[in-house]
Amino acid sequence: MLVAFDSGFLDLPDLSKKDWLSLFADIQKSENKSLILKRPAKGLLAFFEPSTRTLVSFESAGLDLGIRWVKLNAQDLSLQKGETLADTFRNLALYDFDFAVVRHSVAGVPHLVQSWMKIPVFNAGDGAHAHPTQAVADAYTLWKTRGSKSLQIAFFGDVLKSRVVRSDVKIFKALGHHVFVCDESRKEIKDFCAALDVSRIPRQKLKSMDAVVCLRTQKERGGETRLGALEESDLGSKTLLMHPAPVIVGEDLRFSLLSERGDKNLILMQARNAYWMRRYLMHEVLKK
Ligand code: CP
Repeated sequence: MLVAFDSGFLDLPDLSKKDWLSLFADIQKSENKSLILKRPAKGLLAFFEPSTRTLVSFESAGLDLGIRWVKLNAQDLSLQKGETLADTFRNLALYDFDFAVVRHSVAGVPHLVQSWMKIPVFNAGDGAHAHPTQAVADAYTLWKTRGSKSLQIAFFGDVLKSRVVRSDVKIFKALGHHVFVCDESRKEIKDFCAALDVSRIPRQKLKSMDAVVCLRTQKERGGETRLGALEESDLGSKTLLMHPAPVIVGEDLRFSLLSERGDKNLILMQARNAYWMRRYLMHEVLKK
């Protein structure tokens, strides 16, 4: 592989399209093949926010690699007695972990954990900042579905508080895709799009997109959207439907979209590909 992930995967690396495609080809080659670490590794799962896909795909893929896990439950930690996060992780650093996977509501915490523990850290989502492995799974899923050509991709929903959109935009642009945000005629959306250098499109234009990424409203971070749910009539017959999940049916999108999109619905594929991709990346980080 061309890319070194020695400090783990805190943020998306600045790779060229050629390098991303090479990484995708390597991940695909590893699918359905046995990958076992030669040297036993011990991993720390430190999730301070709820998770189904990210937590279980890391844990399950890690078990398949032969990783032994310690999974923190934030409620059980002495943080509850007033210990600081820094002291918590400086103490956990004494217990010989080879790497950690960290999700936290505050942006930058995985980076701090890396500095406190001095081991590779995978960022499993930090505030509204980044969700880098989700973005790789999303881009990898599009590549497996549509190949390496440039696509038109629009985000629909609460972009302002979404960490997924920030990471997706970075990797989609690196891959030469054209990225749009469904406009809500709000100054904050205009400023957001200007900051990320993406264009706004009206709802009627979603039909012409190759893919629409629907987003959950991040209520836990004060998110909102005035768009309502994505409807079947919003999408063209060939438009791919994506969502990082969890999907809040009825709020994010109509149930009919899930039942009637057929093979244009990539949502479960995103979650499955995330397993292969996380297994591959953990193997790369830990194989030396
Ligand atoms: N997409 C995603 O991060 O899902 P979870 O919150 O269930 O991990």
